[in-house]
Amino acid sequence: MIEKKIRKHLSITRTRLNQKKELEKISKYKNSTLQKVVEAVSTVLNSNYKEEDRQAFQNCENYRTELLQDETLISYQIFGSDKTAMVKDICKNAASSKKWCEFLYFLSKKTAPSLILEIGTNLGISGCYVLKSIQNSPQAQFVTMEGLSQLCEISGDQFATMAPVSKYDIREGLFDATFPQLLKEDVHFDLLFIDGNHQKEPTIKYFKALKDKIKSPAIFVFDDINWSHEMKEAWDLLKRDSSVNFTIDLYKQGIVILDKQETEKNVQFNLHLGY
Ligand SMILES: C[S@@+](CC[C@H](N)C(=O)[O-])C[C@H]1O[C@@H](n2cnc3c(N)ncnc32)[C@H](O)[C@@H]1O
Repeated sequence: MIEKKIRKHLSITRTRLNQKKELEKISKYKNSTLQKVVEAVSTVLNSNYKEEDRQAFQNCENYRTELLQDETLISYQIFGSDKTAMVKDICKNAASSKKWCEFLYFLSKKTAPSLILEIGTNLGISGCYVLKSIQNSPQAQFVTMEGLSQLCEISGDQFATMAPVSKYDIREGLFDATFPQLLKEDVHFDLLFIDGNHQKEPTIKYFKALKDKIKSPAIFVFDDINWSHEMKEAWDLLKRDSSVNFTIDLYKQGIVILDKQETEKNVQFNLHLGY
């Protein structure tokens, strides 16, 4: 445990010390998607926010504050478990932190995707940030998937206060059922946040299957790439996949860019955004 923590801090320190050089190295590549991802990182690092961004964040964080007081019990029966947990604890343990939500917001705002996929809605915290990021993009839509029906209901109620129902679609059910269904549809995503089922096999499976369901360019965001040995292995495989042009390792999240116009392949960068 201590060894794991030391390794994490050493890796992050190395990346932080090297950050300026790494940014210079990235700036030499003229790929506009790569540059927009880096702009999103820099915007969050420098808290370079406009008033409208701050207001959007405040709105999402007010929702988080409400959830952190909510003692409603959520059943995990759909996963074949007797477990229950309070909303406030689920929010504390599973929802993305403010900084990573802000990053997702700018990633979306700067790259202006038309169709965003999230695997793992949870309580809809990251979803709120996504909806805020596309509120001025009339064509943009958001699809998000979750197994726990009570969480779908809570997220749906919140989303309804933020956007017209035509902007979002919450797919309820176990991914084993909802994912194959999604693959049958004529949908093509350009921003994909993979934040459910953090294990090697499903992560690789989602990536391989979703490669046929993307536009070009497309950005995948994989959460918790260093969370376990399995997830590290998954991240190593993803980085080396022959379809991948660029990856940015942010330690917590891994960004993968696929761009059919780009000739560079498997170029890997490391940046630090936060813990
Ligand atoms: C880490 S949380 C998502 C957090 C959310 N994206 C956020 O940042 O606020 C992952 C979610 O995926 C759901 N999930 C995990 N495995 C699943 C599966 N096999 N089928 C359906 N839902 C699943 C969990 O119930 C959980 O709510």
